[in-house]
Amino acid sequence: MKDLFDLKGKVAVVAGASSGLGADAARAYAEYGAQVALLARRKERLDELAEEITAAGGTAFAAACDVTVEESVKNAVEQVLTHYGKIDILLNNAGVAIKGSVEDTSAEDWDKVMDINVKGMYLMCKYVIPGMRSRQYGKIVNVASVNAVMASKTLARHSYNASKAAVRGLTMGMAATYMKDNITINSVGPGLFESEMTANTLFKNEEYLESYRKTNPASRPGRQGELNGTILFLSSDASSYVTSQHILVDGGYTII
Ligand SMILES: NC(=O)c1ccc[n+]([C@@H]2O[C@H](COP(=O)([O-])OP(=O)(O)OC[C@H]3O[C@@H](n4cnc5c(N)ncnc54)[C@H](O)[C@@H]3O)[C@@H](O)[C@H]2O)c1
Repeated sequence: MKDLFDLKGKVAVVAGASSGLGADAARAYAEYGAQVALLARRKERLDELAEEITAAGGTAFAAACDVTVEESVKNAVEQVLTHYGKIDILLNNAGVAIKGSVEDTSAEDWDKVMDINVKGMYLMCKYVIPGMRSRQYGKIVNVASVNAVMASKTLARHSYNASKAAVRGLTMGMAATYMKDNITINSVGPGLFESEMTANTLFKNEEYLESYRKTNPASRPGRQGELNGTILFLSSDASSYVTSQHILVDGGYTII
């Protein structure tokens, strides 16, 4: 039982690892013994994180990757496979949020959100799953949001709602197809956490913050690291019989 969460000998890819929740998860994977592959567009940021992880005794490799560009994803996955020889765990964390109702969202912004949050996930899975299938082992964790299952009247983010609900649908469909190959595919739904995405947006929006605290049974945003336990569970053998689930990590925010 003690080893259920152990990731020693596993290779974990984090897409969207250059900041925030993805960088945190990469640190946690390394701490639990996984060899980590860091993917995002900003290679210099990834190199810094790789150095930090290595200095702390872990193993990390960085590859530049724009998840919206098929060639870039294919190339990054090939680099990881050449470097480590396999991929056991994929954390699809790359994401973006743009505020606006359908009326004031430009078609360009709509496409950007859907491209990063949904197409990026599809492309990562398209190139990682074949190796997992041939080895009959895989753990995929897709970062969705509470906004896959609820919306806020104080802040319209319709493209974000649509993209995160699509992540749920994609997770479910893939989970049904690939459980026979011993690949579990689940999603996590974080509530509000401070990150590059939220520091200058949601955390500066007093009305939103106030309503989040008021409605949330925990009366506070998530703290740094509070998502990692759920990600580790879904990435380890502790969740070998768990697939297609959406685990909300939100202090109870979605309890109505
Ligand atoms: N912070 C929150 O409150 C919160 C809540 C719910 C869900 N989420 C989700 O968590 C995930 C991480 O967000 P975060 O809050 O840490 O924000 P963040 O901005 O710090 O991290 C987003 C990551 O995605 C990467 N990324 C963006 N576009 C990319 C692209 N085209 N190719 C490759 N990488 C790309 C960024 O480089 C970064 O590493 C996102 O999917 C977000 O929607 C965050």
